[in-house]
Amino acid sequence: MKSRLGLNLFREMKLRKEKITMLTAYNAWQARMAEKAGAEMLLVGDSVGMVEHGFPDTLDVTLEMMVLHCAAVSRGSEKAFLIGDLPFLTYEVDEREAVRNAGRLVREGRVQAVKLEGGVNRFETIRAIVRAGIPVMGHVGLTPQTSIALGGYKVQGKDRESARRVLEDAMAVEKAGAFAIVLECVPSPLARLITEKLSIPTIGIGAGPDCDGQVLVLHDVLDLYGTFRPKFVKVFADGGKILLEGLEKYVSEVKQGEFPSGEHGFTMDEGLLEELK
Ligand code: KIV
Repeated sequence: MKSRLGLNLFREMKLRKEKITMLTAYNAWQARMAEKAGAEMLLVGDSVGMVEHGFPDTLDVTLEMMVLHCAAVSRGSEKAFLIGDLPFLTYEVDEREAVRNAGRLVREGRVQAVKLEGGVNRFETIRAIVRAGIPVMGHVGLTPQTSIALGGYKVQGKDRESARRVLEDAMAVEKAGAFAIVLECVPSPLARLITEKLSIPTIGIGAGPDCDGQVLVLHDVLDLYGTFRPKFVKVFADGGKILLEGLEKYVSEVKQGEFPSGEHGFTMDEGLLEELK
């Protein structure tokens, strides 16, 4: 039985003003590395659809995919608190279905909590899942699953109406019983205000420096995802370049007959070889 970080820690960290670090992870080796780097929370995000499966957005991600990725992240980590994203249309239809699907991520995917997008409009859903005994992380501001309705991947909360909506959404998420909330692509001063108003930790992505914690997609941190890079991303290592160099070297050495050399092969009894001949 693994002994993982618990929910109380994150409230305590908020009170102590100690930053919470969250990274996405989608498989066992990524989970191992993110945990080794010290991230307290690992999010199996539905961004998996784009960064691992090559879809253009998150809408094609299914619950089955999430269960598999969550279980892999669970196997690859020991201590980190694991959160699995509920994908598009697995929690919007009704609360019973939402509870059932959240339960699958916990039971089969072995995560400790689920994340879902929305605020005021998801109040009852969050409440139902929490009442079923499953911790919920909210997600407001830019909510990629409903980006069409939001008019695209845009910063949310810049004008009065939109800022009010983001604030009310965040407060609804807390009131519904969520243990933490992601604020995505909201102006830094609004994220600071929400962070001050809420007693649950805020985890920012494109929400400035004053949230209680931060999250980035692992592929963005390590520059593994090709061309598109949102403004809020900082690349911390040239992972894509290093990996490509290694792969190119492999291809070149195979072509040149340099790999495999004697040291990478196995010997056998000479007499046996003669006999086979
Ligand atoms: O799916 C995801 O990776 C996310 C984070 C960007 C917060 O929801």
